[in-house]
Amino acid sequence: MIYLDNAATSLIKPNEVKLSVINSMNNLTANPGRSGHDLSLKTGQMVFETRETVKNFFHVKNYDVIFTKNCTEALNLAIFGSLVEGDHAITTCYEHNSVLRPLYKLKEKGIEVSVLDIDMCDLVKDIEKEIKPNTKLIITTAVSNVTGDVANIKAIGEIAKRHKILYLVDGAQSSGHIDINLDECNVDMYAFAGHKGLLSITGVGGLIVKDIKKLKPLIYGGTGTNSESLVQPSDSVEGFESGTIPTIPIASLNAGIKFLTKNFQKIIKYEANLSKYLYNSLKKLNFLKIFSNELSNNVFSFNVLDLPSTLVADILNEDYKICVRAGLHCAPLIHKKLNTLETGAVRASIDFFNTTEDVDKLIQALIKISSL
Ligand code: ALA
Repeated sequence: MIYLDNAATSLIKPNEVKLSVINSMNNLTANPGRSGHDLSLKTGQMVFETRETVKNFFHVKNYDVIFTKNCTEALNLAIFGSLVEGDHAITTCYEHNSVLRPLYKLKEKGIEVSVLDIDMCDLVKDIEKEIKPNTKLIITTAVSNVTGDVANIKAIGEIAKRHKILYLVDGAQSSGHIDINLDECNVDMYAFAGHKGLLSITGVGGLIVKDIKKLKPLIYGGTGTNSESLVQPSDSVEGFESGTIPTIPIASLNAGIKFLTKNFQKIIKYEANLSKYLYNSLKKLNFLKIFSNELSNNVFSFNVLDLPSTLVADILNEDYKICVRAGLHCAPLIHKKLNTLETGAVRASIDFFNTTEDVDKLIQALIKISSL
């Protein structure tokens, strides 16, 4: 089997991650932040340490890390938690439905939304023109989950800072693949998934926040703090994590990020070379329509002649045991722009364990499919 669907979830988890799951199931089995016994404190210590691991990885000191069940929940928290009636938000046509749907819902509540229908390379140039006196939030992905296009988050962060606007970055596809210094890039909120590039098991994501006081909780309930009060606390991360948190996925996230930290520069370089190899190999096939480019990061989309992407993905799966994703990838507006709403697009997404042989086998299969 050749797995080229890492943008959906990464296949290979390092041994350290697998061992952390077993270790936490054996030794960190209590509920953190609730009881006072040793096991609860030890589990709480692991959660605290994981927050520090996340902060170090994204080069921030005075930010908070709120754990969520996935990146979608983190984006919902950031969007619903920071916008109120009369505010204006700016976003792009590259966004995933986990950004677009919350914004669309908020339009019903009197929040204005501008969606920039532009190429990623024009984003920095055009975003400033959309800013109005009531603009509260700019939201961009760091890497498109359809085209692999990379946003210039440093330049956008500078614009946001200059206009005193919050900047939220969807890091679903960038985390673990690009070294991002959130502080230097003036990112106010960064949402991540654990199970993709950060190599954890499923069940944990998070929101890294510069100023937690600017955020309202999404979910209300028990926090293990201020229990005498019927008012939800919102001055520390616990107020945003009501209910029992997923300790085993969190332990695996800690192990995944520590694995990456040891090898990160090597991994980034390897993935950049493999991305280049994949793009150049696709370029040689004149029957392909390619929607990515030479700067795309790990994610490449294309169509074979005018065939529906789902048909191509099914043949790749059934006849060649190659796993890719087809369809709209939950990002409808970029497909509208690419004129692929009908066909969708075939998406091949790599991780550090993929090889040039995997790419060669994909290319051979595509050649055969094109002549069916
Ligand atoms: N959002 C994930 C993807 O793009 C699931 O495949």
